[in-house]
This record gives sequence, C-alpha cells and structure tokens, in this order.
Amino acid sequence: MPRKFSISLISSLIVFICIIVMFDLVRGQLIRPNYVYEGLIRDIRTYFNNSCIILLHSESNPIETQGEKQMEKLKILFIGIDSSHTEGCYLAGLTEADRLLHLQKYLSLTLHIRTALMDFNMFTTRVGESYHNIKRPLFVLLNDNEDTRNNFVNQVSTWITMSYPTWLVFFDNTNNLTDFFFDVYVPFDSKFMVAQSINETDKEIITEVYQVYKDKELRLDRFGVWDPEEGLKGPPHGLYLRRNDLFGHNLRVASLQDPPVSLFHRNEKNEVIGIYGFFGKIVLLLQEELNCTFTYREAGSWGVCPPNGSCTGAIGMLKNDEIDFAATEFMMTKQRLSFVTFTTPIFSTKVRPYVKRPKSTSIIKWDAYVAPFSINIWRVIALFIIIMSASIVFIQKLFAFVHLQDNNSPSRFTEILFFITGAFCNQGMQQSMLDPVRMVHLVTYLTAVIILAAYSAALISFLTVNTFVMPFTTMEGLLKDESFRCGVIGNSAYYAFLQHSTDEVMSQVFTKLIKKEKKLPTSYLEGIELVCKEDKYAFVALDNMAALLQQNVDCKLEPLDIITPATIAMALQRNSPFRGIINTHILLLRDSGILQRLLETQWSVQLGASTSSWKSVEIGDIMPLLFLIIIASFISYLVYIIEHITYKIYQAGQVKSQQSKK
Ligand SMILES: *[C@@H]1O[C@H](CO)[C@@H](O)[C@H](O)[C@H]1NC(C)=O
Ligand SMILES: *[C@@H]1O[C@H](CO)[C@@H](O)[C@H](O)[C@H]1NC(C)=O
Ligand SMILES: *[C@@H]1O[C@H](CO)[C@@H](O)[C@H](O)[C@H]1NC(C)=O
Repeated sequence: MPRKFSISLISSLIVFICIIVMFDLVRGQLIRPNYVYEGLIRDIRTYFNNSCIILLHSESNPIETQGEKQMEKLKILFIGIDSSHTEGCYLAGLTEADRLLHLQKYLSLTLHIRTALMDFNMFTTRVGESYHNIKRPLFVLLNDNEDTRNNFVNQVSTWITMSYPTWLVFFDNTNNLTDFFFDVYVPFDSKFMVAQSINETDKEIITEVYQVYKDKELRLDRFGVWDPEEGLKGPPHGLYLRRNDLFGHNLRVASLQDPPVSLFHRNEKNEVIGIYGFFGKIVLLLQEELNCTFTYREAGSWGVCPPNGSCTGAIGMLKNDEIDFAATEFMMTKQRLSFVTFTTPIFSTKVRPYVKRPKSTSIIKWDAYVAPFSINIWRVIALFIIIMSASIVFIQKLFAFVHLQDNNSPSRFTEILFFITGAFCNQGMQQSMLDPVRMVHLVTYLTAVIILAAYSAALISFLTVNTFVMPFTTMEGLLKDESFRCGVIGNSAYYAFLQHSTDEVMSQVFTKLIKKEKKLPTSYLEGIELVCKEDKYAFVALDNMAALLQQNVDCKLEPLDIITPATIAMALQRNSPFRGIINTHILLLRDSGILQRLLETQWSVQLGASTSSWKSVEIGDIMPLLFLIIIASFISYLVYIIEHITYKIYQAGQVKSQQSKK
C-alpha cells in the first residue's frame, strides 16, 4: 500500500512538473503532454476502429529551436527515476518537432495504422477531396488556439463532409466551446469529440458536439472520460441510441397520392396535414421516437432524372432541397442513388407485368362429360352391360328350359340391355322371380353405384378446376402478341428501369409499347383499373401492390414472369444528416416486430386470401348436355313423326285392303 501510494505520488508530481515545464516550454502546437495525446488518440481510434489518423496543426514549420537548455535541466532533474515514468515528461523537453514526430511514430507503430502529420494547408492541397478514399479516418486537431481555429473554420469546414471522418479536438480550458464552433456547422450525424482536461489532473473529459440542423444551437453530450491508467470509458450505447432527440426540429416530408398505401389527410383549406396508410403510420412512429415535427407536401410522382439532371417528382424535390424526406415506396435503383439516398430497406418484392385473366367461358369443353373416365373404362363399362344383359338372357333361357317362366320381366335382349343401362343411370329394374337374375341385378346395382360415385367426383372436379389459357407469360410474348398495350406509372422507377435497360426485350417494350401510350397512369390503382377496363393491357407493378389492389377491382389479375426483384425503401436527401437516426429507428421497428405487423395490416401481402370464393359452373360447362338434350328431343320427335306417318300409311293400307275385300 505505501509503495503504491509513493509511486502514484511520484507520478503525479512528475505530471505536475511536466505541466509546469510544458507551459514554460511549448507555446506552440502541443498543449498536452505526449502521453495524453498518445493514450487518448489510441483509445479513441480503438473505439471508432479508424483505419487512418491525420494529425492536423496550424504551423507549417513546427518550431525547431526551442528548449535545448530546458531539456538539459530536465535530464538532471529526473536522474534516478524510473524511465517509464519520466518518458512523457522527458519528451516535453524535446523540441516540438521531435515530439510531433514521436507522437506520429508511436501511433503508427503501436496501432499499425497510417498516421500522417500535416498542417491545414497541406491537408487542403494534398488530400483535398480525396479524403473520401480513406476508410473511417480520424482527424485530430492538436490544439484549439486562434490559428488552428481559423484554419479549421475557413479552410476545412467549408468543403469537407463533416460527418465522414471522426474528429477529435484537444481543448485548452480557457477557450469556450461555443466560441470555437461559432460559424461551423457540425451536422447531426457527426462524430465530433472535444477533449478537455480536468483541472490539475491528467484526466480528460470528452464531449461530443453536434447541431440538430444548420444554425441551430450547439449541443454538447458527455461522451466519456479518459485517464492514463484506465483508458477511455466510452458511452454504453451506440450513436443514435444516445443521440435520439431532434428537439422538435421540423422535417419536410413528401408523399404521394397512392391509395391505399399512402393517402393524404387534408384540412378545410385543402392543406395536407398528414398521411394515412402504411407510410403515414411509419411517419407517425418516427415523429414520436425522434421528437421531431413534420410538415407535409404532396409530390406528383416518384420522379425520374433525365440526363440533363432536372429530376422530377419527389426525387426532384429532394434534390432541390424542397423536402428532407420522402415517405413513400421507392424502388432502390443505382440511377437514383446519384441524386438521393435511401433508408434501410423496408421490404423486398418483385416487379412484373399484370394482365387481366383471360375469359375461360368462351371455350366449350365438348369432352367434359366423357373426360372423367379414360376410353378403356368406358369400354369396360359397355362390356359389363352387355355381359350382364347376356347373362340374364342366358339364365332366363335356362330356366325356361326347366319350365320356370319369369313372366314379369322383359325377355328380349335389347330390352334387358336397356334396363341394365338404365341401372347405370340410377333407374330401377323390374324385379325378377328368378333368384339368379336377382343376383345379377344386385351386382349390377352395386357396380353402378360405385362407378357413378367415381364419375360424379371426377366430373365435378373437372368442371370446377379453372382452366384458362394465358396468351403469353413473358415480356417477349407480350412484344410478339402485338395486340396488347403496356403501361407503367409515369415518372417512376419502372419507367426509368425500362428506359435505361440494356436488355433487348425490355428496351423494345419501352420503345414499341410504353412510349406509344398517350397518358401513363399516375398511381397503381389507376393502372390496375386500366387493366380491368381495357381488354388487352399489361401493367407493370410490384407484387405487393397488385395483391393489395386486387381487392379493389372486380377483375382477376394474372402475373406474367418477373422482370426484376425490387427492394423498397424511403428516400432522403443525399448526405442527409438524419439518415442514420431514421435507419436506426426503422431497424428498431423491425426488431420489435412493429414493421412486420404494419406490413401485414396495411399491405396484406398474402396473395390468394380472397381467392377461396365459390366458382360457379358457367353456361359453357353444361353446353354439351344441353346439346345432347336438344338433339335427343329432336331425334325423338323425328322418330315419333316417322312412326306416326308409317302408322298412318299402314292404317290407310289396311282401310284400302278392307275396301278392296269388300
Ligand atoms: C475494424 O476494422 C477492420 C477493417 O479496417 C475490420 O476488419 C474489423 O472487423 C473492425 N473491427 C470492429 C470491432 O469493428
Ligand atoms: C422534445 O423537444 C422539445 C423541444 O421542442 C424539448 O423541449 C423536449 O424536452 C423534447 N422531448 C424529449 C422527450 O426529449
Ligand atoms: C431536361 O430534359 C427534360 C426532358 O428530357 C426537359 O423536360 C427539361 O425541360 C430539361 N431541363 C432542362 C433544365 O434543360
């Protein structure tokens, strides 16, 4: 215990001397002892896992000639003390250039990452815009003096994307944080750390600074504390779990009139004051979580960007800084990424054309009533009827031989054949006096019942199974058919997708079909309604959307083959500072299952939930039977007339012969 105490006493003494000597020696770039710089930068870089460190200072030529004498003095002072304790202080005695080099060497060697030492001028000219090529850089401002501040504010903060690197500034306690950041915009998603030493100790308090938005007040959050023994104690939560409040900042959000997924809620003055539907729910949840407010705008379309860069629709509004956030379903495409950025994906689905289900009633199934059995079964049934009839005739003949007459029953073969066939049509037969004949009847009845049951079952399923013939199932077929029109939502990703497609078929579909459309639909509902109204119209839509809208229209939609899979997200301005926090909350919504629940209730993704309705038998299905009845009655009439005529002739003949007899 006493030993420990003495060591810590010695170290604090050394530190104290160091600080005094420091102030004495270095009025230049380094305002902390080297071990503080080393330890703190090392720990911050470990926390953020940076891959490169750039130490920024304002002096183009760090003072070379300072402190030779003082160094000598220090060496004398510290003779006999363990060198590990003295090293930091010993270094304080070196010239600033040496110390800077030593710091750089320490960081490169112990952390095995690139560490560069540069002044602001060099940084602007040598690195410049190419800083984006460095993955997760850590930029360190070694001090906060007047020159450094001016250089940082005027030379760097004007063009750099603040949120890209991690920043660390060493603050002198005399300076005010708000003064330092006056005129600097530190966006919401920045990782900007300020280290301030606690008076008379070598502990450092690390504060992170940010603004909710341009010209808003500077916000300071405690990031952690650092001390030489225990290192950095960082925050327990991730960035957006601790920085989760927009303090009522107003976000401008646009959506589309795209029922039923997004619908506007208007007041009496026809101003949009909210959104209904899936995206409206998400926006409300975000508003609650982020403590922000929304003002709503209506976008005419999703938007496309022609080569001259004048984007339309919501994409254009984002690009022109008219809105911050577009809360509607965007297909994530590479082309759009050069103008906007997307939130984390909300769901994935597929894009394909939909057509109206072709009518099946026009096809009369002439073979519907014989199709349930194969031809051989029919043959066997016919053979069975003949054999049964023959055996009855045989039995009757046999018994007639032994003088047992069956007076009730018919005895002609054709008559028996007729009755046996009747048994297969659920008709009864006259009861016989002869037991063997009754046995034959029983067998016939049983067989008929079984065969009839099987036949009915097969016939019912045959009639109810929907058979319709798709004219084609691919885009190629659509092109070849030539009678079909094809539409997509104007100013949408599909439009751009087909327009810029390198696929031969897709680009032909675009030039030959879509370009010819005079007016493209502006919403999914409009497109799907067109599919139902027009006889030959294919409409490109998302699977989810088609499934959802199927309930709103009274025709049956049939999908063609998939054109492309699609990932759906919402859109934000490029470099939007709110992307991270919105993504975090979307992921939280997903993890908690709320997003899934919303998708299910608002999108009802399952196709076919409503298809379990009854299918009625159409008139076409019984056409063959009707024909049979008509033909049968016609033939019977004919036979009746022929019979009648023959009878008349016969009667006339008889009358004549009687007259001639007389
Ligand atoms: C740190 O970054 C490297 C790549 O630079 C990566 O391989 C490693 O997984 C990262 N570690 C953590 C903890 O993020
Ligand atoms: C939300 O923002 C307001 C400022 O508009 C602030 O006063 C309030 O404390 C914030 N609420 C929460 C829960 O942080
Ligand atoms: C860009 O091109 C579109 C059509 O491709 C046109 O409507 C628009 O006016 C053009 N805008 C500018 C600024 O040239």
